[in-house]
Amino acid sequence: VICRKFSHSASLNAIKKVTVVGGGLMGSGIAQVAAQAGQNVTIVDLNSDILEKAQKSIQNNLGRVARKLYKDDPSKMEEFVKEANNRIKVSTKIEDGVDADLIVEAIVELLEPKQKLFNRLDELAPQHTILASNTSSISINEIGSGIKRKDRFGGLHFFNPVPVMRLLEVIKSDEMSQETYNTMMEWGKSVGKTCITCKDTPGFVVNRLLGPYSAEAFRMFERGDASKEDIDIGMKLGAGYPMGPLELADYTGLDTNKFVLEVLYQKTKNPVFKPIPLLNKMVEEGKLGIKTGEGIYKYK
Ligand code: CAA
Ligand code: NAD
Repeated sequence: VICRKFSHSASLNAIKKVTVVGGGLMGSGIAQVAAQAGQNVTIVDLNSDILEKAQKSIQNNLGRVARKLYKDDPSKMEEFVKEANNRIKVSTKIEDGVDADLIVEAIVELLEPKQKLFNRLDELAPQHTILASNTSSISINEIGSGIKRKDRFGGLHFFNPVPVMRLLEVIKSDEMSQETYNTMMEWGKSVGKTCITCKDTPGFVVNRLLGPYSAEAFRMFERGDASKEDIDIGMKLGAGYPMGPLELADYTGLDTNKFVLEVLYQKTKNPVFKPIPLLNKMVEEGKLGIKTGEGIYKYK
C-alpha cells in the first residue's frame, strides 16, 4: 500500500504534537523530520549528553536540508532552521513528553526495556495518544502486550539516515484500529515518506531481506575471504549499493545489527541468522561503529 495514493480525511492533520523517546541515531532523525513538517516535537532520552548531541546533529542536518530548499536565499535558509529548531524541546523525563498526539519509541533494540517503556507511556499518556515503536525486528504485538490501548498502537519503522531515506514501514499490530492505521499512514506522508505496510513478521520487509546479506558479509570477513575494503567496494561497484555491507553495519550500529540478527534467528530458526562470533566480540568490546568511533573501520 502506498500512502501517496491513500485517500482518507477524518484523520488528516490529527498529529500536531509528537514525542520521540530515545534521542540517538534514529530518534534525532525522526524528531527532525517531524519538526521540518511543522509539528511540535519533544525528544526524551535518559542521557542528557545524548540530548545535546541530538540537538547539534539536528541543527547540522537542518542546515543541509535548508541549503537544498533555499539555495539562493540565505535569510530563508536561516529562518527554516530557526523555526524547525524552535519546535523541538528536549527532556530527560518521560513525564515531559506524554502530552502528545503521537509517541514514537526509538530506544535500544531489546524487548524488555521497550515493554516497560510502553506500559509506562500507556499509564501516563492521554486517551487519544497513539503509541508506536521504531523497532527494527522485534514483534510489535509482544512489545505492546502489556498495554491497554492496543487499538492505538503499532510500528513505525524508519530508515537511517531518517532525513534522507524515503521509506517508512507501517506495521499493523493485531488489534490496531483502522483509524490508527489511517492516521499513521497520513502522518508518514506528512513527514515526507512513502509508506509500505507489513504484517508483524520478523524484520518486516526490509530487514528480513537485509539481514541475510549483512550476516553473510560479516562471515565472509570473519573467514578472511576478502578484506573489509574489498567486500564493501565489491557491493558498491558490482551491485550498485550506495554503501558496502560492512560500512552500512558501522553506520547503523553493530549493537543494533547484533540485536536484529538475534531476533531473526530466535523467531525464524534460519541458520543464516546464527550468532556471528566476530560481531558479538566487537559489541562486547564497545566497538559499535561510527557512534563510538570504531567498528569494522576506525573513525577517530
Ligand atoms: N540529514 C540530512 N541530509 C543528509 C544526511 C542527514 N543525516 N545525510 C546525508 N544527507 C544528504 C546530503 O546533504 C546529500 O544531499 P545532496 O545529494 O542533495 O547534496 C545526500 O544526503 C547524500 O549525502 P552525502 O553526499 O553526504 O553522502 P552519500 O552520497 O554517500 O550518501 C547516504 C549518504 C544517503 C547515507 C548513502 O550512503 C546511503 O543511502 N547509504 C545506505 C543507507 C541505508 O541503506 N540505510 C538503511 C539502513 S537499514 C535501516 O535503517 C533499518 C534498520 O532497522 C537497521
Ligand atoms: P541509539 O543507540 O543511537 O539510541 C538509543 C537511545 O535510547 C540512546 O540514546 C539511549 O540513551 C536511549 N534510551 C535507552 N533506553 C531509554 C529509555 N528507557 N528511555 C529513554 N531513552 C532511552 O540507537 P538507534 O540506532 O537510534 O536505534 C533505536 C531504535 O531504532 C532501535 O529499536 C533500533 O533497532 C531501531 N532502528 C535503528 C536503525 C539504525 O539504523 N540504527 C534503523 C531503524 C530502526
